[in-house]
Amino acid sequence: MLSRRALLSSLGAATGVAALASGGPASGAFRVNLRDAARASGRYFGAAVRPDQIESEPALRAAVLADCDSLTPEIHFKWDALQPEANVWTTEPADKLARFAQGHGLTMRGHALLWDQSTPAWARDAIATGDWSVVERHFRVVLDRYADAVQEWDVVNEPIDAPEGRGALRNNIFYRGFGPDYVARALTAARQMAPDARLMINDYGFEYDNPVEEGRRTAMLHLVEALRKQATPLDGVGLQAHLDLSKGPLKPKILDGFLRNLADLGVYVAITELDVNEHDRSLPTYERDRKVADETRRYLDIVLAHPIVQGVTTWGLSDRHSWLLDQQVAGAPANRGLPFDGSFHPKPMRDALVSALAA
Ligand code: XIL
Repeated sequence: MLSRRALLSSLGAATGVAALASGGPASGAFRVNLRDAARASGRYFGAAVRPDQIESEPALRAAVLADCDSLTPEIHFKWDALQPEANVWTTEPADKLARFAQGHGLTMRGHALLWDQSTPAWARDAIATGDWSVVERHFRVVLDRYADAVQEWDVVNEPIDAPEGRGALRNNIFYRGFGPDYVARALTAARQMAPDARLMINDYGFEYDNPVEEGRRTAMLHLVEALRKQATPLDGVGLQAHLDLSKGPLKPKILDGFLRNLADLGVYVAITELDVNEHDRSLPTYERDRKVADETRRYLDIVLAHPIVQGVTTWGLSDRHSWLLDQQVAGAPANRGLPFDGSFHPKPMRDALVSALAA
């Protein structure tokens, strides 16, 4: 792995290096890649992508190839995308993305084997009756098919819930069908079928100082502790990190404590879905972009101080592709919570990522 010193001297060009070292924006023709910035601290940078968008948008393709070490399929590795009907497999988009990644030497995060929201209706019926064989078959086909392309799997996505701050396992289709052991069962099955892959659980809502997120942090720590005690094959925890400017300031003490507790439990961490929800979109653009960049920097400075954090993935690269667009009122200004704007111009958030990763 490249040391920071080696990176800085290999980069050579004075403006970019000075910008990288000082945390200022990289300007003009010289731009420090997110991948190189991340490698400087022994980490990776990645993004969630869709194969159709990479294919149809040269600017996205170029940004992916310039900035990323790792890709996460935004949609196409989910169960309902791979097998929408019983025995009907639609793997072509996922296959295409896997070929693209492998062809360009990119690693992949497999996202996600089990997620309530992406479980197809036909499988839900079987799961509700406690029929584990549907899960088993799904894992076998998918883990086998993508064994060479995918190094790390989100085996269970979003297992935690904390209604009114009382943290617990989420009452999802798997919990109802198989009981609370489903997480351990899924990890154990995944390890058997993909012995070389790193196995993770992935969830959101751990960043801010409020009772719900406090409950979520506690519930996640309890889950990880229980899994480790039973020697369940869990390697890491994914923190989605959908940051949110309406949720108040990030508190270093809280986040530090959470990361330290995870380190004590012997798991590593990946930041898996970073973006920033702005809420107030009435300010001038430069101010909105500054706020997004500041939140990104504040968050990353806290979490990247912990060596267990192995990499950072943003949930998309361009604001034009953000999943938050699907959730906003029609006609409202688009959220600006990703590193590039809608025309693939880098924004201050990208500079914040470069300097935080390289720090
Ligand atoms: C989202 C995608 O971005 C959307 O396009 C899709 O319709 C629904 O899923 N947490 C996750 C991701 O773990 O899988 C979600 O992705 C965003 C929230």
